[in-house]
Amino acid sequence: MSDAPTHDWNGDSADRWAANLARLDLMLEDFGNAAIAAADAQPGNHILDIGCGSGTSTFVLAKQVGPGGHILGVDISAQLVGIARAAAPVGAPVEFRCADAATAPLPAGSIDLLFSRFGVMFFDDPVAAFGHMRRALKPGGRLAFVCWRGAQENDWVRLPMAAIRDFVRPVPADPEAPGPFAFGDRDRLTSILANAGFTDIDIAPFDTTISYGRGATREAAIDDALDMAFQVGPLARALADQPDDIRNRAAAAVRAAFAGQPGDTSVLIDGAAWVAVARNPAA
Ligand SMILES: C[S@@+](CC[C@H](N)C(=O)[O-])C[C@H]1O[C@@H](n2cnc3c(N)ncnc32)[C@H](O)[C@@H]1O
Repeated sequence: MSDAPTHDWNGDSADRWAANLARLDLMLEDFGNAAIAAADAQPGNHILDIGCGSGTSTFVLAKQVGPGGHILGVDISAQLVGIARAAAPVGAPVEFRCADAATAPLPAGSIDLLFSRFGVMFFDDPVAAFGHMRRALKPGGRLAFVCWRGAQENDWVRLPMAAIRDFVRPVPADPEAPGPFAFGDRDRLTSILANAGFTDIDIAPFDTTISYGRGATREAAIDDALDMAFQVGPLARALADQPDDIRNRAAAAVRAAFAGQPGDTSVLIDGAAWVAVARNPAA
């Protein structure tokens, strides 16, 4: 088993994420909205958006808290923080910091809500990281985030990976290693949050159909989905070091898998996430 981190958020992973921002926002929108609904941000709230990336969720939350509130977006990727800063609407109550949320100095006891859209699964020591961030919450303050369930429950990963399994054998991943699917096991996630000091933990499944890729016609949509899968995500990582003949065979196989999915101007494919909420104990 490889010990190398799956993601380099100040290198290749950030480059790939930045190059596919519009597609990824389309793919993640419903999941983010589910977490934002669970977060129930109130006017005047002070919020920390963990692993905020290019700031999509930060800007939605900023509208909810209004001018009396404040959102601090923290992300370890200098490139994505730069994109977020450049995209911030004039006058929005947002601030972005490039830092490791697991260790960055945070104002103690001053935050109403810790929020994240798919930005909390990459910590080497998740109990320590969540404990550190919890201490920034006011007594009784809340945590709300969305993260993926297991890869086998997510057809946008399972189908393309199954399509290439006869000729590419990715190194089996440790399901608990930092990475997109690290919190697939609900019991493990519950115990991470409990050990980090949270109470009132509620982890609910959220399933939706993802619009994976887009195009004016069905063929164009399938091509776009294939291009996206080759650029970002588990398939892209599995094929990164493969020779051209294998990549060509993989492209044909994955295209056929996507062509079996419904959709006219998009490939419609199932996604499965957890929406987790929890609370910092009252003083
Ligand atoms: C899957 S992306 C999600 C980005 C954004 N929340 C969104 O939904 O578009 C994961 C993000 O977490 C960030 N990240 C990973 N580890 C981090 C850490 N230790 N501290 C802060 N950000 C981190 C990455 O740089 C990346 O922007």
